[in-house]
Amino acid sequence: MSRFRNAGLAVLLLLAAAGVARADGVFAGYPYDKVPVPPKDLAVWKALGTGGGRLAAYKPATPPGYYGIGAAPSVAAIAGWSIGIPPNGAGLPPGQGTADQGATLFATVCATCHGTFGEGNNGFPALIGGVGSLGSNAPVKTPASYWPFATTLWDYIDRAMPYYAPHRFQPDQIYGLVAWILSTDGVVPANWVANAQSVPLVKMPNRDGFFWKDPRPVTHAVACMTKCADPATIRITSNAATMKLTPLETGPVDQMKGHK
Ligand code: HEC
Repeated sequence: MSRFRNAGLAVLLLLAAAGVARADGVFAGYPYDKVPVPPKDLAVWKALGTGGGRLAAYKPATPPGYYGIGAAPSVAAIAGWSIGIPPNGAGLPPGQGTADQGATLFATVCATCHGTFGEGNNGFPALIGGVGSLGSNAPVKTPASYWPFATTLWDYIDRAMPYYAPHRFQPDQIYGLVAWILSTDGVVPANWVANAQSVPLVKMPNRDGFFWKDPRPVTHAVACMTKCADPATIRITSNAATMKLTPLETGPVDQMKGHK
């Protein structure tokens, strides 16, 4: 009896292990129809099978939850989509480019939308200028006026441009475009060489225009399960109104007038 029970337990453990692996999306035992049915689903099947009528006739070709479509992505397939370059430039490929080299490509591929000098064309955004304009009534957002990191320029051109056919350039070409845009804006010298080492070192003009630590106190609260603060000691010290985040008496449509 006890041996029988242990065997049953072993089968259950195997099924449980299959369930865990399945949740990871990388289960062994592909194709899908070889995967053991989780005990819970098995119970549902049995109930359906003994129910009679239409349900009894229902015999799914594959276990519920598996539709026979798709396949586990290979490491190479995932790598093909994983092209993000973070602010510190990790993963920037070998290669290099100068503004002179980038200029030709910019003129032939980018200028039609972004203008001969990157000033913007036909409603497409400007890539050059606007530095210091963000606080004005007519802010011009460009990489130099807004973006904190030059590495993002590399990443963005690589993944998103040209608009109609993105992700088509070789690293040298992208380095050249980065050099052209940054030197035309005066962020780097005209003879600057863009490569995996130099791009992360560029200090973009608006780098210090960002808050690198969220100033809202509530975002620094730490969740706790033990040794938490005594609720009796907790006080509300400010709210949106006292911080002037919610205008009470100003604004175009002021329904709140008079509320204090
Ligand atoms: C067919 C028109 C078109 C072409 C050609 C094109 N772009 Fe763009 N570009 C756009 C549009 C539209 C946006 C804005 C996209 C958005 O905000 O989602 C943009 C945005 C950008 C930005 C981000 C600007 C910002 O401040 O957010 C950069 C950088 C850029 N393009 C670089 C290039 C480069 C370099 C080329 C040439 C290789 C190029 N683009 C070719 C249409 C184009």
